[in-house]
Amino acid sequence: MATSTGFLFFFFTFIFSLFSFLVFISRMKPWCNCHTCRSYLTKSWTHTFTNLCDWFTHLLKNSPTGTIHVHLVGNIITSNPDNVEYILKTRFDNYPKGKPFSTILNDFLGRGIFNVDGDSWKFQRKMASFELGSVAIRSYAFETVIDEIKTRLIPVLASKAHDKTESLTEAETERSDALDLQDILRRFSFDVTCKFSFGTDPACLLPSLPSSNFAEAFDLASKISAERGIAALPMIWKMKRFFKIGSEKKLSEAINVINDLAYDIIKQRREMGFASKKDLLSRFMGSVNDDDKYLRDIVISFLLAGRDTVSAGLAGFFTLLSKYPKVEELVREEVNRFRNPVQEYPTFDEIRQMHYLNAAVHESLRLFPPVQNDSKFAEDDDVLPDGTVVKKGNRVSYHPYAMGRMEKIWGPDCLEFKPERWLKDGIFMSEDLFKYPVFQAGSRVCLGKELALMNMKSVVATLVPRFDIRLVGLDYEPRFVPGLTASLRGGLPVKVYERKC
Ligand code: HEM
Ligand SMILES: *[C@@H]1O[C@H](CO)[C@@H](O)[C@H](O)[C@H]1NC(C)=O
Repeated sequence: MATSTGFLFFFFTFIFSLFSFLVFISRMKPWCNCHTCRSYLTKSWTHTFTNLCDWFTHLLKNSPTGTIHVHLVGNIITSNPDNVEYILKTRFDNYPKGKPFSTILNDFLGRGIFNVDGDSWKFQRKMASFELGSVAIRSYAFETVIDEIKTRLIPVLASKAHDKTESLTEAETERSDALDLQDILRRFSFDVTCKFSFGTDPACLLPSLPSSNFAEAFDLASKISAERGIAALPMIWKMKRFFKIGSEKKLSEAINVINDLAYDIIKQRREMGFASKKDLLSRFMGSVNDDDKYLRDIVISFLLAGRDTVSAGLAGFFTLLSKYPKVEELVREEVNRFRNPVQEYPTFDEIRQMHYLNAAVHESLRLFPPVQNDSKFAEDDDVLPDGTVVKKGNRVSYHPYAMGRMEKIWGPDCLEFKPERWLKDGIFMSEDLFKYPVFQAGSRVCLGKELALMNMKSVVATLVPRFDIRLVGLDYEPRFVPGLTASLRGGLPVKVYERKC
């Protein structure tokens, strides 16, 4: 009896999958033979470009409208600011995150803000923007960051620092005892984001560089979820999940580790009282009382949103700074100008007054946006402002990485790291957000933008005066690993030299 039910179930699943597959295929154009689709399918682009995002940048640059269509996968990709405004604001309702992605990320993120549209999104957005806007949470976040810098980041870097007497150029070409700055920054960001979201300290950033079950489970779950998104046939991962095998078995194990921890924390908070606590979870517990799964989903989305993005942003910043000593000098000069003899670390207000620092951080995010591209799914047929025809169900993406490298948008010096571009008479001037959708823009603009910028600036303002951080190998060109956020293959090898200041 059990076997025949099992068989029937399997049979219907199979038929259903086959049907979905046919619908899926009919929406794409697997027979498309245009240059872009052929190059995509045969991967011949890899002969000319290191990274997929660089190939797309090249295609977008050469498109008269700044928009391309990869027919094969039904994906329209744009770098045209008018289109970006139209998708993210004017016709926001027609471009939700959509079902395809929410299915892919559902096991990991559930109903968290990152993964939902409609009323559930509106509710969380309202609640979260209220909390994140409060002075109490901003100063809690700042204290957390400064504390992690003071007690962990600086001591760890100092413990791995080299002696300045060593010849710089000689050392720079030698990889053997380099430090992986990407790894350090991710540990930093994980600690800070966990403290902020849950009020717990995973202590990943210690001189011994310990491994953490939670961080590893989190990485694995992000990675496998991202791979689901790249898979040509969704049916395959669904089958693997059904039979609990391979990568899907690992994903479900990783999610169990994450859930055990999350539910433990929620239970503890409930027993010990959360009213006086300042972390996000405790604050959300005031509005969501008795739905632990929902609380878990809400907080996990924040962890994902805040963690790898900030570390990726900082990795990009130090990559550029290492190549532009003049910018480094100017950052140092500004931080020193604010230096207060009785206080070792800059205050929130001091950092807010550092315009050059703000410009430098914005400028590095322009060239190395942590989220290189982002997609929506069209609810209905439509036409974009540049005339591109959109069919219902098309995936429509905007591409911050390509946009940061377009002469049309930033002028002929677009590839240079030039914080001055953001300053007018020494005052920071923000740009049109649809030209610079690094934090997205419009109705769903990143909720952690101010927090993220503050975290990045705090790290820069405290490290740059103390250390010279130099990339190993002067010809270093970033190679990215596919994933949800920009991540460097092989890490970011650097040497750190302590400055006598
Ligand atoms: C440099 C760092 C960051 C960058 C570049 C960044 C970028 C983005 C982008 C592009 C989105 C849109 C994603 C999408 O809709 O598909 C987004 C959404 C979001 N971000 Fe950030 N983010 C950063 C840091 C943070 C931090 C630190 C937090 C948390 C405190 C945060 C919280 C959120 C949330 C909650 C959303 C979802 C908003 C919504 O759907 O309404 N982000 N971010
Ligand atoms: C989109 O962004 C992700 C990470 O941010 C990256 O892995 C992927 O290659 C990008 N795709 C394109 C088409 O640029």
